[in-house]
Amino acid sequence: MSGGYRKPDASEGLRLHLNENTAGCSPAVFDELRALTRFDAAFYPDYEAAQAAVAGFFGVDPAFVLLTNGLDEGILAVTAAAFRDRSGGVPEGLGVLPAFDMYEVCSHALGGRLVTVPLGSGFEYRFDDLRGARTPQTRIVFLTNPHNPTGMRLPLDPVRALIPAVAPALVFLDEAYADFSGDSLIDAALLDRHRNLVVGRTFAKAYGLAGLRVGALLAHPDTLAPMRLVVPPYSVNAWAAAVLPTAVADREYRDWYIAQAAQSRARLAAACERLGLRTWPSAANFMLVDAGPGASALAARLAGRGIHVRDKSSEPGCEGCLRMTTGIVEHTDRLIAAIEEALCARPR
Ligand SMILES: Cc1ncc(COP(=O)(O)O)c(C=O)c1O
Repeated sequence: MSGGYRKPDASEGLRLHLNENTAGCSPAVFDELRALTRFDAAFYPDYEAAQAAVAGFFGVDPAFVLLTNGLDEGILAVTAAAFRDRSGGVPEGLGVLPAFDMYEVCSHALGGRLVTVPLGSGFEYRFDDLRGARTPQTRIVFLTNPHNPTGMRLPLDPVRALIPAVAPALVFLDEAYADFSGDSLIDAALLDRHRNLVVGRTFAKAYGLAGLRVGALLAHPDTLAPMRLVVPPYSVNAWAAAVLPTAVADREYRDWYIAQAAQSRARLAAACERLGLRTWPSAANFMLVDAGPGASALAARLAGRGIHVRDKSSEPGCEGCLRMTTGIVEHTDRLIAAIEEALCARPR
């Protein structure tokens, strides 16, 4: 996500390659942004209200919340905290392949490495393989629910069982897309019981705040303490901090977008079935589509029609696959029409 990113300008069309909310943020949030003053820009932000609102939303005490500059910074902070223990050599993260690339980027940036086990043939997590791949250097296990790039839900019982099984290694459960699936392990009693569990959330997706950069880590206060040392004191900007209470309170907007995503998934899955393209059951605001050996050519044709999707086809474990945002129904319908056109125009 970070490396090859270039922001297409408005004339370049529809951005369905980064799982953003292409409807924008909630109108109430935007009103609040517009009401901010020169002084909000001039003063260091205060996080008390934002932290309390996020904690209230997740039903935990504010001490269980660490706001971060996007969940990307949360991943950096949790990895840094895990890799402080360098006894026995190079610290290791453990995850699956394919997965969100920041787990590897952060592991390398912090002087460690990432060990991966492949997902199964249906893109399912193989929890026994994960356990079996642990080494004495394993400091953190990265899980994503729903998973990126497949959009698939993780079964929660094996996740719950893995947490004590890998302790004292941290389990980082990335719930960037959990607003869409409704599945979450954020629970004060669970976080209290499992001090090695850290859950990550972002307001970039369901809330449309990707440009404001704000996410959160949730864990027991003792677990969060080393991560608080990594995240700089004013890492979340004043604009993000000011609007977070309104963003989490505006359930109507969030629920509308979640419902749009559900309809979009159903429409794209049905269209792909008609066109003979395989998909996987997504619970997020995106879908992985197997377009076979012509995947890159299809992505290029869609880009030529002004629709940008994410070409994952050359990434290990994702051969032939494109990842497409399934958010706003109107945008999904444009995507489907463009896929149909591009496939019909394809030289045989
Ligand atoms: C699985 C996953 N985790 C974390 C992030 C980062 O989110 P943020 O934009 O809040 O940094 C993303 C963004 O695409 C993601 O897909």
